[in-house]
Amino acid sequence: MQSIANSTDHNNNTSLFELFPSVLELMFLKHTTAIISGGASGLGAAVAKYIVNNGGRAIVGDLGHQLDAFHDSVMELKGFQEGRMKLCAMDVTKEEQIELALDEAANSFGEEINTCVACAGVAPGRKILSKSKNTSAEMRVHSLDEFSNTLQVNTTGAFNLARLSAARIASRPIVNQDVIETRGVIVLTASIAAFEGQVGQIAYSASKGAVVGMILPMARDLASFNIRVMGIAPGLFRTPLMEGLPLKVQQELGASVPFPSRLGNPEEFAQLVGHIIHNNMLNGEVIRLDGALRMPP
Ligand SMILES: NC(=O)c1ccc[n+]([C@@H]2O[C@H](COP(=O)([O-])OP(=O)(O)OC[C@H]3O[C@@H](n4cnc5c(N)ncnc54)[C@H](O)[C@@H]3O)[C@@H](O)[C@H]2O)c1
Repeated sequence: MQSIANSTDHNNNTSLFELFPSVLELMFLKHTTAIISGGASGLGAAVAKYIVNNGGRAIVGDLGHQLDAFHDSVMELKGFQEGRMKLCAMDVTKEEQIELALDEAANSFGEEINTCVACAGVAPGRKILSKSKNTSAEMRVHSLDEFSNTLQVNTTGAFNLARLSAARIASRPIVNQDVIETRGVIVLTASIAAFEGQVGQIAYSASKGAVVGMILPMARDLASFNIRVMGIAPGLFRTPLMEGLPLKVQQELGASVPFPSRLGNPEEFAQLVGHIIHNNMLNGEVIRLDGALRMPP
């Protein structure tokens, strides 16, 4: 059976969602109160806008310098003007900053969060051992600090946000166990580099492999609290991270995706987060979102 949102007027191929976006959009995520780390750029920003545009509330947590530009890009949004989106300076490696952002949700929205989406991340490129550009005889060893910092943000930061968010979600009352099956959901962003790390991705792949490794045990730990945990492993998405590359390189990367042969749109990532929020049987798994891409060495 076709759902209302997906049903199509076959005469002009226009979906009801396109005809009545304001009505349908306002219903979809109206029960969602979320915190999104890395929410001022790329995939996180797409998730924050998607949740708010679909009736939910969002705390956008990111490093302070990212928030100004993001503010300019969302100040016209209806949801922002209605106070359903709040911007908080939040470094995922700092417990007190996460707690302040979570307090902001409770104070601004009148309830604790029920959704946590971890998108904050860094992606350095460095080989464990590389030849010096100047003299082939010299070798450069991967800096231990750079390796540790990558894990500190991508792995420890995701865990830090997840554990503090879990405590808030668990504190929410279940009004009617039969109706509200789930208290909330935590979504962590991994990467296909967790499975097929390329040359120069050793720190990044290690950090994302650890995120993948967290999903099942975290889901098991939180099952008795009615909290679900999911991971998403994106392939190649058009975000500032990618847009920094020359256009030709972006096109070549897009062409390497079997189908559709293009970079992913951050909105497509946000759509999957929206589906995960709604589908209570999704738990303890990592979904690849990659157009069948398998990265070469
Ligand atoms: N874009 C892709 O193709 C792609 C592919 C696979 C995985 N990912 C992952 O998706 C996530 C989002 O990536 P993106 O492409 O949107 O990148 P992005 O650079 O656009 O966004 C990352 C955000 O994380 C924030 N951030 C960095 N360190 C932080 C910290 N300590 N505390 C809080 N925020 C911090 C940055 O300020 C930035 O706003 C990352 O975890 C990335 O590894 C992206």
